[in-house]
Amino acid sequence: MLKRYLLAPGPTPVPPEALLAMAMPIIHHRSPDFLPILDSAKKGLQWLFQTRNDVLTICSTGTGGMVGAVNNFFSPGDKALVINAGNFGERWTKICKAYNIAVEEIKIDWGYAVKPEDVEKALEKDPAIRGVFVQASETSTGVYHDIKSLASVVRKHENTLFVVDAISALVAHDLKMDDWGIDVLIGGSQKGLMLPPGLAFVGISEKAWQFANRATSPKFYFNFKKERESLAKNQMNFTSPVTLIIGLNESLKLLRAEGLENAFKRHEKLATATREAVKALGLELFTKESPSNAVTAINAPAGLDGQEIYKNLRVKYGITAAGGQGQAKGKIFRIAHLGYAGMFDVITAIAGVEMVLKGMGYSLKLGMGVAAAQELLMVQED
Ligand SMILES: Cc1ncc(COP(=O)(O)O)c(C=O)c1O
Repeated sequence: MLKRYLLAPGPTPVPPEALLAMAMPIIHHRSPDFLPILDSAKKGLQWLFQTRNDVLTICSTGTGGMVGAVNNFFSPGDKALVINAGNFGERWTKICKAYNIAVEEIKIDWGYAVKPEDVEKALEKDPAIRGVFVQASETSTGVYHDIKSLASVVRKHENTLFVVDAISALVAHDLKMDDWGIDVLIGGSQKGLMLPPGLAFVGISEKAWQFANRATSPKFYFNFKKERESLAKNQMNFTSPVTLIIGLNESLKLLRAEGLENAFKRHEKLATATREAVKALGLELFTKESPSNAVTAINAPAGLDGQEIYKNLRVKYGITAAGGQGQAKGKIFRIAHLGYAGMFDVITAIAGVEMVLKGMGYSLKLGMGVAAAQELLMVQED
């Protein structure tokens, strides 16, 4: 038997409390049993999103939340500014185009973060831009974009919405939706929220709801105004994914017990230890600036294939991490420290990387990366 470890940037492991709660018999989504459950999830999400506004729960993966953020607030012919710094930035462009939104891109070399002043210039040059779309954590490159600074730029433009895909960033990074002025903030269940895939979450500002009143893009399943009306009655438009929402309450309970600040600090600590460990092994980060706290992207050493490293981790040692996506495929591998993650996940990942690389002929002394991580992860004596 090969014991399995899930260290991918989604899906992430689910804590036993949530697994157990989700093993309960199914309840009916229109019965009184369910109403307090959705009510509690709705309030917990507002806490997590740091907002007084509604946070919708949508039965889809994160991409469904992204689609809804385009077709509910914008109309065919509207102009969007997309920060395209990786695979998921590219997805914003594809979704906008599918809804006939005219896209202008700020293209960033993979591994780098957008400069807020470039967004400022683009918005000043073209006042017709109605939405700025970005990832908080670009999972394909391991870069965190400076959402606070970007929000302060976009907020100055009253006819422009700031739309943030925080699918891999929520829980790993502090994202103050109301204080910073994020208009649409999107999350997904299978990442920092420590749940199976199947839910998207969309926080929506009052300014965005005004856009929704004017938007003419076609919509049926992802109809946020109707979802908002249903949510006011602790319902969803269609059959609610009751099991996942029961699990969501358990995850939120765990996060509330930890505290948001502590959750951010935990992710930062795990990310720092992972980065220092791989550097101690003589490896280079793929991420050139502003690394994400959710996932670490690492260059494969010269002559080695990143996909082979990823495959060997899984096949030989039972560790499911991630390979590269798009133009980074084969060149990198990625290790997540997201959600239900602790210090021994980092130790496991680094030990596995050392063993795989040594096995592939890379010269290293076993334990050097692990020791570097241990130094940073050790709990100080009082
Ligand atoms: C930043 C980001 N955006 C969007 C997605 C897409 O989410 P899903 O696969 O849940 O549709 C992902 C998933 O990996 C992601 O990391």
